[in-house]
Amino acid sequence: MCGIVGYIGKKYNALNVLIEGLERLEYRGYDSAGIAYIDNNKLNIIKEKGKIKNLKSKINFDIKSNLGIGHTRWATHGIANKENSHPHKVGKITIVHNGIIENYEQLKENLKNSVNFKSETDTEVACALLNKLYEETNNMNETLIMFQKQVKGAYAMGIICDDDYNTMYAIKNKSPLIIGTGKDENYIASDVPAILKFTNKYIILDDGEFAKINSDEITCYKGNNIIKKEEKIFEGTAEDIEKNGYEHFMLKEINEQPEVFKKTVSEYISNGIDSLIEKMPDFSKYKNIKIVACGSAMHAGCIGKNLIEEFANIPVDVEIASEFRYKKLFIDKETLVILISQSGETADTLAALEIAKEKGCDTLGIINVYGSSIARNSDVVLYTKAGSEIAVATTKAYFAQVALLSLIALKIANSNNLVKSDELKEILSEMRNLPIKIQNLLDRKNEFKNIAEKIYKNNDIFFIGRDVDYSLSMEGSLKLKEISYINSQAYAAGELKHGTISLIEDGTPVISIVTKESIAEKTISNIKEVKSRGANVILVTTEKLDKQSDFYDYKIVVPNTHKLLQPLLAIVPLQLLSYEIAKLRDCNIDKPKNLAKSVTVE
Ligand code: F6R
Repeated sequence: MCGIVGYIGKKYNALNVLIEGLERLEYRGYDSAGIAYIDNNKLNIIKEKGKIKNLKSKINFDIKSNLGIGHTRWATHGIANKENSHPHKVGKITIVHNGIIENYEQLKENLKNSVNFKSETDTEVACALLNKLYEETNNMNETLIMFQKQVKGAYAMGIICDDDYNTMYAIKNKSPLIIGTGKDENYIASDVPAILKFTNKYIILDDGEFAKINSDEITCYKGNNIIKKEEKIFEGTAEDIEKNGYEHFMLKEINEQPEVFKKTVSEYISNGIDSLIEKMPDFSKYKNIKIVACGSAMHAGCIGKNLIEEFANIPVDVEIASEFRYKKLFIDKETLVILISQSGETADTLAALEIAKEKGCDTLGIINVYGSSIARNSDVVLYTKAGSEIAVATTKAYFAQVALLSLIALKIANSNNLVKSDELKEILSEMRNLPIKIQNLLDRKNEFKNIAEKIYKNNDIFFIGRDVDYSLSMEGSLKLKEISYINSQAYAAGELKHGTISLIEDGTPVISIVTKESIAEKTISNIKEVKSRGANVILVTTEKLDKQSDFYDYKIVVPNTHKLLQPLLAIVPLQLLSYEIAKLRDCNIDKPKNLAKSVTVE
């Protein structure tokens, strides 16, 4: 949802830092991009519609600048055009902004007689307000304090004032913002990878705070009070965010899953069940669990529900965060609320966390980004160790979420004496073997490519399955539609004949997932129903359930494992199938249209 970056210092040319940063942040939006920079004591603005490369082609990198701010946009207010692009400048104030100013219409009404607005954006209104407040106070600190009082909504902003080209300001509420630190140079950015090429040290600005940033000094404020902030070190390397020879980040990230699995689960299984007992939180006081998340993270939650209910025998509900926050809730101290989020910044999930806390529930975050807002505010955090995920469509982070949820199911099942020791041994040994089995699937990429070639021209593709296979279908379908733009729907296999089966025509691909033994025959009956109506059936099943038959056209057989872990194997071919289909359709795989990776607006 928009990315911002800023630089002040003499070590690098601000123009290079801004473009490098914006390229790293492009996953947050790519409707337009722009920069403001100081050259010879004059502020210049360049902005262009579309990707960063359009902006880059307009920049003269021979200019040496010591101060600049940049923005890559995911349009919210106003269409994606040059006028609506950031930075916006009104009077002496220039800003870049990630977030949404909720009361901008009312603010605009108050300002319209004195300002000639050029764009339709809420950001230009915020900029105009800052300028008015600065005209009244002639003091940036007072301006920012008054701004915080008048503005409602989410914002992370980088600000330059024409009266002082030796300072950059940053202000934050509900949108992520970090301040990168260096020697005689400092940065701002929406996330750390944006500036990782230059520094791995940073401080996190919290909601309601602002900062005055010079090249050799950073002063953070809450109101009039100066606050001390802890400097953090980012543990990843710049290499983590390179493609490392892969054609796309998505493919690289899918291929990282064996390693991600090892990293995510190792501390909980390194010493057998003892480490699980010791390292996983104690869940014994909860009578039920509510999982709240968005998109793929919510789909991971659905698998969590299937596994926890089956193995641990306690009820689990999965809620879409944007629904959870506005509905009547039946939760209390006996409910554990689990928030799942790769970014840890998703606005709806963050709001759901606050609501759960207000209701007195304990909260557990399953989060990928260290120090993110949801991680900081949850009572307990389990980190998915997926590393930086750059492709907009999540793969490895979803994978790690499912891995942690299966460990939670195991931990509760074990505390409730629901797993026998032999089965426990088998599960732990399967966990150690799983990376090899995942690798086996990754090595079969060509097999999935061949199937992709058979179906990539279709405009409608269905996914069906029951129980955990339905949860997998939902994720397979989302992955396919978001990167290939094929209309795809996931259905509980038994539900199809209640309406949707009328859409099945000769040759309609139906990707049918049959990995759960106890309901395999039921799903197979549903597959036969679509097959007899002309569907082109792609069966995804396990070695154990595999049998020669005529109810499918193509078959993907995944290795056997314990049923607690089976979804982790079944998802891999679905990811690769989507990837290959999107590639054949020549889609922008890492940056699908209209999307952004971190959804920090509601
Ligand atoms: C789909 C995808 C999204 C995210 C969703 C939640 O591939 O990536 O559906 O899963 O936007 O994002 P996080 O996990 O950051 O809260």
